[in-house]
Amino acid sequence: MEIAKLSEMDRHDIQKISDDVFVMPTETVYGLAARIDREDALKSIFRIKGRPSDNPLVVHVSSLEMLRNLIAGDIPDEYQKLIESFWPGPLSLIFRCKGSVSMTVRGGVMDTLAIRMPKSETLRNLIDRIGVPLAAPSANTSGRPSPTTVEHAMDDLGDKVPFYIDGGPCEVGLESSIFGILESGYVLLRPGSITREQIERTIGSPISVRTKANDGEVARCPGQKYRHYSPSSPVYLFQGERWQENMRAIRVENKNKKIGIMRLQGLEYDIDFEYSYNLGLDKKECSRNIFAGLRLLDKNCDMIFVRGFDLCDEGLAIMDRLDKAASFVIE
Ligand code: TXA
Ligand code: MG
Repeated sequence: MEIAKLSEMDRHDIQKISDDVFVMPTETVYGLAARIDREDALKSIFRIKGRPSDNPLVVHVSSLEMLRNLIAGDIPDEYQKLIESFWPGPLSLIFRCKGSVSMTVRGGVMDTLAIRMPKSETLRNLIDRIGVPLAAPSANTSGRPSPTTVEHAMDDLGDKVPFYIDGGPCEVGLESSIFGILESGYVLLRPGSITREQIERTIGSPISVRTKANDGEVARCPGQKYRHYSPSSPVYLFQGERWQENMRAIRVENKNKKIGIMRLQGLEYDIDFEYSYNLGLDKKECSRNIFAGLRLLDKNCDMIFVRGFDLCDEGLAIMDRLDKAASFVIE
């Protein structure tokens, strides 16, 4: 496998990534990428990740012109406002797409595409030089936490990917927010660092949040059918007022186990843990560190403890990921 820095990608490197899959850095998480006009490379994404073929990919564009070439019809007014406020950045929007867009990207069934414009100017320049949008899901093995450093992606995918682009640790650390205007109205399909509150303020209307496929309902976001982000050591998510007592009780029941705690900086626990991972001072920092923390504690511990967050602002996205990672929710 080969590795190059994002800022040092030259003509020869671009040639190498043109026909095959590669790992690329974005501000959210690392992606396993391929040009949307390379069918073999697109199929490799699903094979390498072990991803079900009906789970569509996010498409990355570098300009509005590239966006217009993909979509059917005009950009809705609400999206126009969101694009002005949050692009380039960690917000994917669901558009009706042209029939010519590869069915592989669309998970074989959708007539829509999730599209975003990544924040890094260097990455957008790279997409510009390639001249074609890039499809990229997160560069983890399906079921593992998303990678926020190139090392995480290498740990999961190793030699299966011939080329890795290193852009340093991801600034946001959680996958993009996904918002769509669906038949049922305005829906946040995946919460992220662009928050529900920010989207509502920008379009001037309330939106609904549908982060879990409801029973008996066809999943609009097919990814919702599959279990995500699970480390192999069980994650215990503590909610409610008795969180500290409950933590202590489970600690005592498991006195021979190595327990790791993911904690907010400054929050004191009078419980002994073998490992302590500092998530940071506020929800923004916690978002950035949560996947790295899960990976690190997973390597070193038998059990992972974390206290729940409130659902305001970035809390909704953090709790969505913790809920998906948790084997046990203790209330
Ligand atoms: O931040 C991100 O979005 C990262 C980076 C690499 O850009 N990508 C990412 O991709 O998280 P992935 O494949 O791990 O998650 C994409 C989610 C999936 O849950 C998928 O089901 C949903 O987007 N999705 C894709 N196309 C869709 C569509 N047309 N309608 C509804 N959901 C869609
Ligand atoms: Mg993913």
